[in-house]
Amino acid sequence: MRRRQFLIGTAAVAAAALARWRAATAAESDTIQFPSDFVWGASTSAYQIEGAVSADGRGPSIWDVFSHTPGKVLNGDTGDVACDHYNRYREDIALLAGAGFKAYRFSIAWPRVIPAGTGAVNEAGLDFYDRLVDTLLARGVQPWACLYHWDLPQPMEARGGWLGRDVVPAFADYAQVAAKRLGDRVKHWAMLNEPNVHAIFGYGVGEMAPGLRGRDNVLAAIHHQNLAQGTAIAALRAQRPDLRLGTVLSLQPSLAASDRPEDRRAAEMWDAVWNTSCLDPLLRGAYPDLLAKDYAPLVKPGDLEAIHQPIDFLGVNYYSPMYQRADPGGLFGTGWGATPAGVGLTAMKWPIEPHGLYDQLIRLKDGYGNPEVYISENGAAFDDQVDAGGRIDDTARIEFLRRHLEMARRAVADGARLKGFFVWSLLDNFEWANGYAKRFGIVRVDYTTLQRTPKESYHWLARQMRT
Ligand code: FCB
Repeated sequence: MRRRQFLIGTAAVAAAALARWRAATAAESDTIQFPSDFVWGASTSAYQIEGAVSADGRGPSIWDVFSHTPGKVLNGDTGDVACDHYNRYREDIALLAGAGFKAYRFSIAWPRVIPAGTGAVNEAGLDFYDRLVDTLLARGVQPWACLYHWDLPQPMEARGGWLGRDVVPAFADYAQVAAKRLGDRVKHWAMLNEPNVHAIFGYGVGEMAPGLRGRDNVLAAIHHQNLAQGTAIAALRAQRPDLRLGTVLSLQPSLAASDRPEDRRAAEMWDAVWNTSCLDPLLRGAYPDLLAKDYAPLVKPGDLEAIHQPIDFLGVNYYSPMYQRADPGGLFGTGWGATPAGVGLTAMKWPIEPHGLYDQLIRLKDGYGNPEVYISENGAAFDDQVDAGGRIDDTARIEFLRRHLEMARRAVADGARLKGFFVWSLLDNFEWANGYAKRFGIVRVDYTTLQRTPKESYHWLARQMRT
């Protein structure tokens, strides 16, 4: 009897356990579990979405000039209208809140706030960000402001832009003006977006604004951005000790395209240019050994101390690894190599390798004192199709996000202090030199009507955040 009861009991327990396991695996296959205080957000940037380039006293930026220069941007596209977010921000915030995003990373356009780069403050430009922030807070979405996403006021560029040092105090002044107006409500501030990408493509190879070329330009633009970032952090810290201050870096693994020793050396050099030229001075107080001599002429006494500021968080933008080969014609003796066969590509032709995200997070944990990290951009462009019913079933984007979130979760389990994830991007937008041809949004924008349509990835992320 006892034995029979035991067997019945055991069978019931086993059946219940099996049901629990089935439910858990079904849920797990669709949702990836993060701690309850994990910050879920979406990212955008000013020039890519705002439009309204001459509204309310905004001055021109290097991107206005560059995009209006024939031949620089695909199809002659410009950010003149973009997503018209400047006028439609309420609708966009409703989309954020509707999905359940708790945070929104946007950038403030320096040329709206101080049109000449230095000097007179344009209050009407600040008013826009006031309205934006108030609407976000009213909808329960935390504003995360980034002070610089590549839209340097053109008059600053005319004075040498990031190649000279004048921009450093100018940026710190602008940061203080913005924080003075918004710091009572915006608690998270990122100084720069991807100084490395801006320096390499804007000042080194000329594919982005301001369209300059040259190896020394890359080093100068990186150093002066590093310095501006540190100077602004110190100034804001003194002004508003209650703010959480950080910056955003693009960290992508630099991998050798083959086993040849020269390709391996190229990958190491490219890692120094792309990743550690920004990471090392910020978190270790020195430029990477491979480039220390090259930076030396730019570094004045006190610069490294100014860059080596304590930060409250680091934003990491991750998209894909970079395969490198030796190329004597490249600025640093390196060039882009082929992606290994069998690796999937996005519409940007970027390899889809979620493991690279894990590697970056663990690199920060093991090599850089495990700073508090937020993935500030991750996402993908695909050639979305709108079906007859108007639905955008972007399965490839969902799969991309699911696999990257899985790697993020694994990094958390392995001790990385990863505290949040911001998808790039809320909206399809002006993708720099690619114009409107590449769509990264979880919400589709019809560029004729400016109508917004949430894609399936938007609904999928909403489900992730709910659970
Ligand atoms: C990042 C940029 C962002 C967007 C994505 C696709 O490098 O920060 O503005 O263009 O790439």
